[in-house]
This record gives sequence, C-alpha cells and structure tokens, in this order.
Amino acid sequence: MVFVTRRETFSAAHRLFNPDLTDEENEKIFGKCSNPNWHGHNYVLEVVVAGEINPETGFVIDVKELKEIINKYVISKVDHKNLNIDTDFMRGIIPSAENIAVAIWNQIKDRIPYGKLYSVKLSETENNFFEYRGE
Ligand code: NI
Repeated sequence: MVFVTRRETFSAAHRLFNPDLTDEENEKIFGKCSNPNWHGHNYVLEVVVAGEINPETGFVIDVKELKEIINKYVISKVDHKNLNIDTDFMRGIIPSAENIAVAIWNQIKDRIPYGKLYSVKLSETENNFFEYRGE
C-alpha cells in the first residue's frame, strides 16, 4: 500500500457561530472567532489517497488527476470565499476546522478514481492541524 498526498492551499473567511445559542454563549465558546464581521485564515489542505501501484503506470493515482478533483470540488468553492455564506457544502455547518475537514472528505470520497481516500488533513494556523479518516 502506498500513500499519495496532494497539498493545496486556500484563503477563506468564516465566523464560528451557533445560531441556536445566544450571543453571550457564542462569545463564551468561540471568543474572537465569533467576531460578527468575520475573520480569515490561510488554510493548508492535505488529501491522502492510499492504494496499490498500477504496474502499467507506476502510479497509485495520477496526482494531476487528484489535483483536478480537489480543485473542482473543493478549492473552487472555498478559495477567497466566505465559508458561512458562499460554500454550498458548508451550508448549515459551523465552519470549524474539524467540520471543514469532514465536509471536504464528503465532497471527494466518492470521486477518487484509483485507490481510496485515506485522510483529509487541514491546518488553520501554523500550530493547529485537524485530520479526518472517515470514522
Ligand atoms: Ni477562525
């Protein structure tokens, strides 16, 4: 089994906010991440596909193809967007890094033509990493 990682970056705005809670409760849980006028991050996304090497090509998956899938179904929907408002696959979801990682997994998991999606890793800052493996 070989693990292939494609790294992509995007910049997006968001606000951590749960509409079921009061402003005070949101402020208490999310602090400055709940700023009503948004804030942004430079996200780093790593998509890992695991599979056997195809002897005909020497590839698990053609990384050009993987890049195109990630760009079409994820990056085009999040880069320079507001995750709370603009991104269809984040609608109704609190845009924490955890939830974004799971939503990205769901966006691409059935679109990987070779091998299997193994993990989606997302970093929101240099110090915080979030990883989802589908379970
Ligand atoms: Ni934030």
